[in-house]
Amino acid sequence: MKILSVVGARPNFIKIAPFINSIKEYNQKIESSGNGISINHILVHTGQHYDDRMNNNFFTSLGIPSPDINLGIGSGSHAEQVGKTMIAFEKVLIEHKPEMVVVVGDVNATLACSITAKKQKILCCHIEAGLRSGDMSMPEEINRIVTDRLSDLLLTPDKLSSANLMSEGISRDKIHFVGNIMIDTLEKNLGKAEKIQVVDILSKNNYAIEEQQVPDPEILNSYAIVTMHRPSNVDRKSILKPIIEFLIETASRKLFLIWPIHPRTIKRLKEFDLFNRILHAENVMLLHPISYHEMLRLNMDAKMMFTDSGGLQEECAILGTPCLTMRWNTERPVTLLEHGGPSVLVGNNVKMIRDEFGKTILSQRKPQRPELWDGHTAKRCLDKIIMSLNRLK
Ligand code: UD1
Repeated sequence: MKILSVVGARPNFIKIAPFINSIKEYNQKIESSGNGISINHILVHTGQHYDDRMNNNFFTSLGIPSPDINLGIGSGSHAEQVGKTMIAFEKVLIEHKPEMVVVVGDVNATLACSITAKKQKILCCHIEAGLRSGDMSMPEEINRIVTDRLSDLLLTPDKLSSANLMSEGISRDKIHFVGNIMIDTLEKNLGKAEKIQVVDILSKNNYAIEEQQVPDPEILNSYAIVTMHRPSNVDRKSILKPIIEFLIETASRKLFLIWPIHPRTIKRLKEFDLFNRILHAENVMLLHPISYHEMLRLNMDAKMMFTDSGGLQEECAILGTPCLTMRWNTERPVTLLEHGGPSVLVGNNVKMIRDEFGKTILSQRKPQRPELWDGHTAKRCLDKIIMSLNRLK
């Protein structure tokens, strides 16, 4: 059985790690029993995320084997990234002829490789299928819809996602609710993350070592994490500036703010002449992008999360961290307050963010575990893949 899976950007690495591990376990079982056909797995990295902190660190720390093939696509406009990926990936498929291509998440690699697989008449499986924000201005929403429409096997993280797919007319026999594969990674890595000291994360990753001192340990009893990288929040000065002012003038007066900052956001802050203000602000510390374990460790004790990341919304749900989701919609509604989760949508309107901040600062940690977010999703994904390969071949 030849399966080829694809990663491109940071959130993909967290999802593929448990999947590769489940293949390894499956092959070990086949080998020791001498019964059945083992899986020949090929890992392709499109190269969308490429630098050490966004890429290599994740491979090493999550124990992901080096990709068998790296397409080296790098930065570029969406059309450039998708186009270059399709051209390079088509050659890989022609050479390796896998029986199935497995794509995860909703990044440009997910879209480009699912289209290419289908054009080559190769079966395609989408892990994390069915998420819908309903917001077609998000590049990720376009990627999700196209990938799901083309996939032969759609593995969903929750029942709302399965319902989304059915309402779009996708045939029921392609859809399987398997749970959230991100949580496999979280469960596996909690122990390692717990051992890290928060001060060590700050001193190791400090963005401007001379200018920002690591705070006293008691200040660290009360910190919030900030992460923001979505084009809708960072690409326009009229949106980004008031958020920066809120963080400096309101949020940082109540909580120490730790902000592992995405390269896209740094670029925009510099363009809009806001970078020095946030870098020199009191009670705010900018960090380079941090490792998976470091983020998990910070999240375990944070009083609050300000984020526009979907993955962090899910991690906050399991850990119970009150989460102000800086978006007007979410493809992950199971994490919201109305579904028992700790996340509230606050968009990018500062009045709304300020109001919710006032309420949220008084709230307590409230862990929640949606159905099948149990750390065993990767095995269920592989079982479904093997079953459908046997059926569809
Ligand atoms: C991508 C995903 C998004 C995901 C995010 C997580 C798409 C459409 N978007 O957005 O869903 O939440 O990754 O990080 O696929 N850059 C570096 N170093 C790197 C990678 C990128 O400096 O290793 C720079 C690029 O030059 C670019 C910017 O960061 O200017 C944005 O990178 P890009 O790949 O375009 O998308 P993300 O915003 O990271």
